[in-house]
Amino acid sequence: MLQIPNVRLNSGHLMPQLGLGVYAPGQQDEVGQSVREALDLGIRLIDAASIYGNELEVGQAISSTSVAREELFITSKVWMDDMGYDSTMRAFEKSLKDLSLEYIDLYLIHWPKEDKRKETWKALESLHEQGVSKSIGVSNYYQKNLSELLNYAHICPAVNQIELSPFCYLPDELTFCQAQGIQVEGYAPVVRGLKKEHPVLVEIARKWSKTTYQILIRWNIEMGAVTIPKSIHRDRMIENATVFDFALDADDLTRLAALYDNTRVAWDPRDF
Ligand SMILES: NC(=O)c1ccc[n+]([C@@H]2O[C@H](COP(=O)([O-])OP(=O)(O)OC[C@H]3O[C@@H](n4cnc5c(N)ncnc54)[C@H](OP(=O)(O)O)[C@@H]3O)[C@@H](O)[C@H]2O)c1
Repeated sequence: MLQIPNVRLNSGHLMPQLGLGVYAPGQQDEVGQSVREALDLGIRLIDAASIYGNELEVGQAISSTSVAREELFITSKVWMDDMGYDSTMRAFEKSLKDLSLEYIDLYLIHWPKEDKRKETWKALESLHEQGVSKSIGVSNYYQKNLSELLNYAHICPAVNQIELSPFCYLPDELTFCQAQGIQVEGYAPVVRGLKKEHPVLVEIARKWSKTTYQILIRWNIEMGAVTIPKSIHRDRMIENATVFDFALDADDLTRLAALYDNTRVAWDPRDF
């Protein structure tokens, strides 16, 4: 069984530091099985979202597991088209139903779409107060949008999920979240394989007898982030989660910090 440490969120709840992403365009038929494999291996954090179009399959996989509900950590997100108070409440209900859950562990605003951010956050605060979302947070919020939210929020976001790899690493964004007590969660940690042969990664991987995927995932851990690599393959899930038995050293971190080239798999939050 994989051993994955937890972090404590400002909501008081524990969150596993590594989970499974389930954004799988073109592979929807394999998502249910991948969630079952992950749960079987000991992965407890599943990063879902309504826009991924597979919450039913994720829900069926969760329902079929013998893992106790309180051990699971299930995330969902409200998509841009559903933002606004009432529509967020409806979107949450649909996700809850599709996922076959009575509560969600973490509900996030997926992207900071301009005109409905405030009402949407109010809806998330209501869901938290009702106890149906144990923690609430945001995704793709950089300092400008976070500062705006903190001006009207009664509840500080527990998590900010952002794209995170050395290739798009903006240190000030992490520092800002850490100063506010907001847990950073890094998505697309392995840059969808785009950088798997980068010579610096290859060298560091060789030094630690690890793969370049493991180096990128370990780097997310070194940054204090929660990380959610996606794979539908059992052997890759094991590989991706076997990153708690070594640590990058100062020299590695310096070399990795120099790789920034703003490579992203998703939009740049600075454009929002
Ligand atoms: N909040 C947001 O806006 C946002 C945006 C994007 C993603 N996310 C979340 O973050 C999760 C992860 O991001 P992502 O899926 O975009 O990118 P990612 O995790 O960086 O990369 C996933 C891709 O890399 C492959 N892969 C993973 N581990 C591998 C390994 N050890 N060896 C070889 N190939 C490997 C996977 O292939 P196989 O599956 O075929 O193994 C998949 O094609 C998503 O699933 C989603 O839950 C959130």
